[in-house]
Amino acid sequence: MNPARPAPRNDRLAGRVALVTGGAAGIGAAIVRQFVAEGARVLVGDRDQPRGEALCASLGPATVFRALDVADADSFRAAIQDLVARWGRLDILVNNAGIALPAETVQHTTLPQFEQLIDVNLRSVFLGCKFAHPHLRAARGCVLNISSMAGVTGQERHAVYGATKGAINALTKCAAVDWGREGIRINALCPAGVRTDTLRAWIATQPDAAGIETYLRQIHALGYCPEPDEIATVAAFLCSDEARFITGCILPVSGGSECGYNVHAPFSLADPQS
Ligand SMILES: NC(=O)c1ccc[n+]([C@@H]2O[C@H](COP(=O)([O-])OP(=O)(O)OC[C@H]3O[C@@H](n4cnc5c(N)ncnc54)[C@H](O)[C@@H]3O)[C@@H](O)[C@H]2O)c1
Repeated sequence: MNPARPAPRNDRLAGRVALVTGGAAGIGAAIVRQFVAEGARVLVGDRDQPRGEALCASLGPATVFRALDVADADSFRAAIQDLVARWGRLDILVNNAGIALPAETVQHTTLPQFEQLIDVNLRSVFLGCKFAHPHLRAARGCVLNISSMAGVTGQERHAVYGATKGAINALTKCAAVDWGREGIRINALCPAGVRTDTLRAWIATQPDAAGIETYLRQIHALGYCPEPDEIATVAAFLCSDEARFITGCILPVSGGSECGYNVHAPFSLADPQS
């Protein structure tokens, strides 16, 4: 059971301008909502135009949608140029867009599948950081990469996905060293499981849906799989001045999954509230 509480409203991001990739759905959409609630203006960059436009319509003039394919260099460069032309600055880049499928072993991943995972998950982070850098330097801004615990601890049948996330974590630490003196912070946030379309698509590929629900509770020491808003509040913190002395951090937001997946517990694991 998810004991989610509404996040306190505050103005940690007042006056900030952000680009959230993959912002139309899931974790990205929750970050967009949280950033707007905390005072930021946000360009939602996503390849899903109807969903992105609907989100922006629901949030009002602090948001604008732009069609974006993060794997395409020209598309990414143009999105950042548009944002800066519109709002005059870029303070925060959230590299969130990503794909998890196919979730497979090395031997069962084809070369085109490997290349797609690398392009959407990793090449995109490189492109975003590269094109945003002059604007972030001018604003003394920050980057937040949405990574994964699969890039820290490893995960069964996620070889290439995990490799992209492990590489993002390494890029984050190296860029933090390069950019620290320029006043640019860069961090990575690592969820384990989060209830989004990507997770639901993965569950749909599994033969035992009920067993997967149990697994999702058990891998998190806190005993449940979180909703996207529980990731978004931490994202806002990391992109705010409250985190001004944090850079190069690979932060698990994972309910303690890194302490050990409790997958051998009986499936009748007690509800944490009982
Ligand atoms: N959901 C989880 O359990 C989980 C766990 C760990 C890490 N993550 C990471 O969180 C991030 C967001 O995942 P999510 O679960 O919210 O996914 P999601 O599928 O709910 O949303 C992803 C969004 O990214 C967009 N997108 C995909 N490819 C794109 C591209 N090439 N260009 C632009 N937009 C694109 C999609 O249209 C969608 O709006 C990903 O990087 C994922 O790896 C998710």
